[in-house]
Amino acid sequence: MIELLNPVQLNNWNLQSKVVMAPMTRSFADNETGIVGKDVVEYYRRRAANGVGLIITEGINPSPRGKGTFGIPGLFTEKQINAWKKVTEAVHLEGGTIVAQLWHVGRLTHHELTGGYAPQAPSKIKADGLVHRLRKPYGTPEQMSFHDIQSVINQYALAARNAKTAGFDGVEVHGAHGYLIDQFNSNVTNKREDKYGGNLYQRLTFMKEILHAVVNEVGPQNTIIRFSEIKDDLPTFNWDNPETTIKTFVQVFKEIGLKIIHPSTNDFKDVITNEMTLHQLVRKYWDDTIIGVGNLDIDTANNALQEGTIDLAAFGRPILANPDFVQRIKKNKELTSYNSKVHLRELY
Ligand SMILES: Cc1cc2nc3c(=O)[nH]c(=O)nc-3n(C[C@H](O)[C@H](O)[C@H](O)COP(=O)(O)O)c2cc1C
Repeated sequence: MIELLNPVQLNNWNLQSKVVMAPMTRSFADNETGIVGKDVVEYYRRRAANGVGLIITEGINPSPRGKGTFGIPGLFTEKQINAWKKVTEAVHLEGGTIVAQLWHVGRLTHHELTGGYAPQAPSKIKADGLVHRLRKPYGTPEQMSFHDIQSVINQYALAARNAKTAGFDGVEVHGAHGYLIDQFNSNVTNKREDKYGGNLYQRLTFMKEILHAVVNEVGPQNTIIRFSEIKDDLPTFNWDNPETTIKTFVQVFKEIGLKIIHPSTNDFKDVITNEMTLHQLVRKYWDDTIIGVGNLDIDTANNALQEGTIDLAAFGRPILANPDFVQRIKKNKELTSYNSKVHLRELY
């Protein structure tokens, strides 16, 4: 049996395999209400039934101002919670485990998507580029006041509590890819002079306070952090010193008492410094659970699991294109190649 297919107990989760479904925005929630329907229930249920160990949902907004494109679900109204309950119940009936990814896009949006409000950001610096699907330039953001920061932290806490009420097994905080938390983390987007800005350790304060709030609601063993060097709107961005950066991130995760971290890259095999990949560097400083991701194939994932570089392997596009991904690996059947034109059009 290949390592990827082995079940594993992780704290209080019994995962049916080491395969993780990476978080993927699908935009099939009702655009006005942020409520998911039967199609979304069936989409996640099918992946659990086919043996995915851990499902990380698409990004879910903790507040209306966190929305960056059409059809994004929320976790801030009772109706949204009740709709997610149907998803978690269906996944649990199939033996699956599912966590909600909480996603606030910060400056990467436009007032037409956020109920008329300007995008929120650490500093008043507009992003270059066009809003996903709306195809209008990103709006000029408002610099968040101390009060705005406390409100957003409270929104994350409430969304985490709502995730628990909805039956989720935990929460993943989306601290990656250039969205709000990552905008605080990066010196390109964070020019603040209060306690949320300054050197890297200080810039991570916002993330730390959100993690603290989420951990208070769902527990450290049920909280995952996703973080990255890659930024969706800054294709050439690089960390000044990857090793020091990773050390500093890990220090914050340890201070909060996290158990599971999810470093994100587009290519798992990319060497980022000293002949080491992102996940190898993270492993140098982190003994607990690491989720690997980034254009993984079965052999690469299996080897990395066996070597101990990672503990779980996340797949995005392959699981989107193959609802029966795990069964195909088991039976050594060829996988359907991902094609955005085909596979993003509907949920199946
Ligand atoms: C259609 C699509 C939507 C995505 N949406 C999200 C998202 O909501 N949150 C997130 O953290 N990453 C998102 N990602 C990134 C994936 O989680 C994953 O990191 C990336 O696809 C690399 O994995 P892969 O090579 O196995 O596809 C998305 C990727 C795709 C293809």
